[in-house]
Amino acid sequence: MKRKWIVVLGCSIAMFCFTGLAIGAEEACITCHKKISPGQVADWESSKHSEEDVTCSVCHGEEHTSAKDFNKVALPDEHVCAQCHEEQFDSFVKGKHNFGWTSLNAMPITHVEPDELMEGGRGCGGCHNMGIKSEAQKKEQRDKGYRYQNNSCDECHTRHSFSKKEAQDPRACQQCHMGYDHPQWEMWSSSKHGTRYFVKEKGKLPENAQAPTCQFCHLPNGTHTNKTAWGFLGVRLPLPEDKQWAADRVTILKALGVLNPETGEPTARLDAVKSVDMVRLTEEAWLTEREKMIKTCSKCHSEKYAREQLAYGDSMLQKADRLLAEGIEIVAGLYKDGVIKKPENYAFAYPDFLYFLRTGGGNLDQMSHIDQVLFQMYMKHRMRTYQGNFHVNPDYAYWYGWAMMTKDLGEIKELAMTMRATAKMEK
Ligand code: HEC
Ligand code: HEC
Ligand code: HEC
Ligand code: HEC
Ligand code: HEC
Ligand code: HEC
Ligand code: HEC
Ligand code: HEC
Repeated sequence: MKRKWIVVLGCSIAMFCFTGLAIGAEEACITCHKKISPGQVADWESSKHSEEDVTCSVCHGEEHTSAKDFNKVALPDEHVCAQCHEEQFDSFVKGKHNFGWTSLNAMPITHVEPDELMEGGRGCGGCHNMGIKSEAQKKEQRDKGYRYQNNSCDECHTRHSFSKKEAQDPRACQQCHMGYDHPQWEMWSSSKHGTRYFVKEKGKLPENAQAPTCQFCHLPNGTHTNKTAWGFLGVRLPLPEDKQWAADRVTILKALGVLNPETGEPTARLDAVKSVDMVRLTEEAWLTEREKMIKTCSKCHSEKYAREQLAYGDSMLQKADRLLAEGIEIVAGLYKDGVIKKPENYAFAYPDFLYFLRTGGGNLDQMSHIDQVLFQMYMKHRMRTYQGNFHVNPDYAYWYGWAMMTKDLGEIKELAMTMRATAKMEK
């Protein structure tokens, strides 16, 4: 490994000269940075990199040498890591994490929210700064004055300790896979699987007791390629065979704006969704991921048991789609009859899930309350219904998921009635 990186860095003949240079510059980086940012140097010193002479300047270059010229420093993107970790890089590139930044920027809402919540690395951009950025994307960010967002590899093995053990811990996923619309951390940690993990961690279960982590199921055998069958949206192509389910799916796809609500034809948004691999586009693509997961479950359960368990998740998704489609149709009816006016940004007089909660401001209209209830039914409660099933969490699947969907639908019906009555009176 060590020999390889020296070759990569183009100093194969003058190895001695390279090492000499690196160490010379190194002393300066470390001496000075021990004073100005000692924590950072301590972290680096705790890393495998420091043992292997992967020094500051290997990643940051040697241009910056004083307190005044730090703007000349290189901020290493994933390609720098790839010089020595090609296998992990190649594997990462094929996974969904590599689409984090692009999929964020494909959302219409992203471009009307505060920059601090995007480029600033809080809010959406705090979790979605994953994925290799183009030079144009990097430049755009730099021009706005935002930095330190060009490396995905330090999201799970955090700089500057770059530890493998840290990335193997499920807590490495917690920062992003939690909360409103993807509470995988909460679901897993309070499931039987998570409970066993924590009891084992306390030393109260033997070392070889089984307790699957996020990594065991989603990044098995050191792979960096992550992808699931249903994905985040819980839709796929082709449409299901069941007639009612297929009709409900069409309704949902219209609310996602990938089908034209008037003609049922695909819109330009479908191409955007395809380009970031948001949905599996064929039965085979879906099955490939599903069968991988069955194999994983079967390391600890019988295959039959695993198939049954995942099939429960699928059928809850179908039932959740029924409720959601009913909600969408009620709100769509209000648009159709002019009870809700089409917001200017919308392409159609139809609910649009990709505008999220749309709180108004900028050039956005305030979203009507009933639309917000519908969005919550989709984004919070439908997600929990099926994600809770797949993560074997009874409470999320029922109380935080399904029960809340039925409550949302009740509220939507009630609100629609009142809105129609008010509209009639106003006439
Ligand atoms: C004489 C002191 C000194 C030396 C030597 C030095 N630095 Fe710095 N470096 C600084 C100061 C000061 C800053 C700005 C710190 C701040 O804003 O708090 C800085 C900032 C940085 C930054 C962040 C840049 C940014 O955009 O915010 C990096 C990365 C860095 N140094 C790496 C290095 C590396 C690698 C070396 C050796 C090749 C090195 N430094 C040598 C003083 C030094
Ligand atoms: C110049 C070569 C080089 C570069 C560049 C480099 N590494 Fe490493 N890295 C190594 C070597 C050598 C090791 C130790 C041998 C090993 O574990 O493969 C290592 C180990 C690691 C490990 C495993 C640590 C452990 O706890 O076992 C991680 C994770 C890692 N590097 C991540 C990164 C990331 C992320 C980047 C880019 C920001 C990067 N490396 C850049 C050479 C490099
Ligand atoms: C706490 C971290 C976090 C925040 C904040 C966040 N996301 Fe996400 N987002 C994720 C995670 C994790 C996923 C994948 C979830 C899953 O598959 O269950 C995701 C999925 C997505 C997807 C679907 C990607 C796909 O290919 O399936 C889009 C689009 C998206 N987020 C946009 C946004 C936007 C826009 C915002 C801000 C308004 C935002 N996200 C805020 C973590 C976050
Ligand atoms: C294996 C590669 C690697 C090594 C070695 C390395 N860094 Fe970094 N450093 C990074 C990455 C990656 C970032 C974040 C870049 C980004 O996301 O744009 C970073 C960011 C920084 C920053 C700016 C952000 C912050 O947290 O302040 C400073 C300063 C810094 N490094 C200093 C150092 C110093 C000093 C050393 C040596 C003791 C060092 N680095 C060694 C990879 C490395
Ligand atoms: C989603 C979290 C995550 C991200 C992002 C990530 N890694 Fe890892 N990485 C892991 C996990 C988990 C392991 C431990 C795998 C295992 O158990 O063998 C690991 C292990 C490694 C190792 C040690 C390999 C070994 O067997 O010693 C290296 C090197 C590494 N990653 C490099 C990278 C590079 C380079 C990137 C960016 C292209 C990256 N990682 C991005 C989670 C991640
Ligand atoms: C026992 C295996 C297992 C463990 C442990 C596990 N998952 Fe999952 N995960 C699944 C299954 C099964 C699915 C649904 C796959 C499908 O679509 O067929 C899934 C789906 C996902 C999805 C896509 C959206 C969703 O929730 O359905 C994300 C993101 C995810 N898991 C992240 C995590 C994170 C983060 C952890 C740890 C906090 C974790 N998972 C723990 C099995 C697991
Ligand atoms: C820095 C935030 C962040 C961290 C840390 C993180 N993820 Fe993710 N993850 C995301 C985002 C964002 C997405 C959605 C990417 C996209 O837009 O396609 C995602 C997507 C996924 C998916 C794909 C779901 C699908 O659509 O099929 C899985 C599985 C997953 N992550 C597992 C993990 C695991 C396991 C870990 C910890 C080892 C982890 N992630 C750590 C942000 C993160
Ligand atoms: C690394 C081993 C391991 C893997 C992989 C694994 N499980 Fe488990 N699972 C367990 C253990 C241990 C238990 C508790 C004892 C039991 O019920 O068999 C458990 C329990 C369960 C339970 C019962 C939960 C309860 O509350 O009683 C279900 C359902 C389940 N697993 C489903 C799955 C599914 C689905 C997968 C694959 C996505 C999976 N498991 C993968 C080890 C594993």
